[in-house]
Amino acid sequence: MAEHIRVLLSEKEVDDRIQQIGEQISRDYAGKQVHLVCVLKGGSFFMCELAKRISVPVSLDFMSVSSYGKDTKSSGVVKIVKDLDESIKDKDVLVVEDIVDSGRTLSYLLEMLRDRGPKSLHLCTLLDKPDRRVVDVDVDYTGFQIPDEFVVGYGLDYDQKYRNLPYIGVVEFD
Ligand code: IMP
Ligand code: MG
Repeated sequence: MAEHIRVLLSEKEVDDRIQQIGEQISRDYAGKQVHLVCVLKGGSFFMCELAKRISVPVSLDFMSVSSYGKDTKSSGVVKIVKDLDESIKDKDVLVVEDIVDSGRTLSYLLEMLRDRGPKSLHLCTLLDKPDRRVVDVDVDYTGFQIPDEFVVGYGLDYDQKYRNLPYIGVVEFD
């Protein structure tokens, strides 16, 4: 089946919004160091752009959890593929995600991270699909709320493709 990409959020719209969130985080974390935890691979493009726009001291770590393959629906199975390199105990942790969809991945992840004793734990996501929520998740910073459509770009993939698009697009099948 052939597919094509329809632009949903342009590169400028995304970059402008990341700038705003960076400024907001810099205000909220004034006088602190923020420890960004990136959920690979999707969160990586957003985290790098966001980190550049935060003016308080930043440290970074990465983790990877099982994600969708070719399927566009959440399996509900969350597995840690790569854990963090450093302890998050007593750190001001901000988890950076590409998208909150059903909320299953994030609710599991946040619970697990909370057990490790961070000083604070918050969540920043570039995209949110509220219509798809199955499990409640408190999102502290949201780039955009989007409709229930499968999106790619800015780190998000379809079957590992399109992560490198500098905008957010919807996959449409011909
Ligand atoms: P959740 O557990 O259903 O909230 O899904 C979380 C993960 O599913 C995200 O971090 C993405 O990796 C993936 N995902 C959910 N929706 C999309 C989408 O529209 N495009 C690409 N990946 C998605
Ligand atoms: Mg993700």
